[in-house]
Amino acid sequence: MEVARTRAELAAALARVREEGRTVGLVPTMGFLHEGHLSLVDRAADLSDQVVVSVFVNPLQVGPSEDLSAYPRDEARDLALLRGRGVSLVFAPSAGEMYPGGDPVVTVSPGALERRLCGAFRPGHFRGVLTVVAKLFGLVRPEVAVFGRKDFQQAVLIRRMAEDLELGVRVETGPIVREPDGLAMSSRNVYLSPEERSQALGLHDGLLAAARLWEAGDTRCHRLVDEVRRAVAARPLLALQYAEAVDPLTLEGRDEALPGTVLAVAAFCGTTRLIDNAELGRH
Ligand code: PAJ
Repeated sequence: MEVARTRAELAAALARVREEGRTVGLVPTMGFLHEGHLSLVDRAADLSDQVVVSVFVNPLQVGPSEDLSAYPRDEARDLALLRGRGVSLVFAPSAGEMYPGGDPVVTVSPGALERRLCGAFRPGHFRGVLTVVAKLFGLVRPEVAVFGRKDFQQAVLIRRMAEDLELGVRVETGPIVREPDGLAMSSRNVYLSPEERSQALGLHDGLLAAARLWEAGDTRCHRLVDEVRRAVAARPLLALQYAEAVDPLTLEGRDEALPGTVLAVAAFCGTTRLIDNAELGRH
């Protein structure tokens, strides 16, 4: 497995891939990998000849109240997991390599979608995400890129960016990978104390209860969202940030829940921010 740390190393490795006429599938990550990330690697391997995984904790998407240095990292473990999954090219640049001129002057604006869901609580976050993903698309020039639906708003925004700016990349998404008890896998779960870990399940429990209610015929979004709120409120260590039922493309709030409507929830569990979602009618 080759680990490219500079743009030049990446370009040289990609030139060999292109000479052989092979297609490229990109999986961007911030490392501290788990089965959720690795499921995207498998998907990219199905969709392309050569998978490239990027591992880069992007300072541009971390808000002033969030601690970049506290983001969990274990590069040796990440590389071992990727090698075990058959990945042959990893791009792991430093911040200086990614942003050689310091913070970029021109960035990608998420537009109105920024004000929805997580964007409303994390100013500048999605601008930082889109900007680094656009840079990765430019550096790697993949035919396809794969993102997880765990970060639903992120996936919607990246797809819109690729379409609206004609970036020539096919954006694919993979389902949420969960722990055996249902908690959505996340690099941040390592921060949870045992008690927080058990209460964190409230997000998934609420989404499940809401989905069951919908399957039983109740299509009133406020009732479904109430189920989520109730499950979160029943756990004293959880503090709800939002629970909403939204359209999967516009992320606008909905009154009536249709197949494809997304229930999205964010809550703090102690100091750890957790998100989860459920797409109604999709299992
Ligand atoms: P990161 O949080 O490392 O996630 C990398 C990719 O893994 C994202 O597409 C995310 O949605 C996906 N992922 C995370 N947990 C998942 C789970 N439980 N099931 C399925 N997929 C999951 O998201 C980012 O990094 C960054 O914002 C990035 C896109 C790399 C830009 O910096």
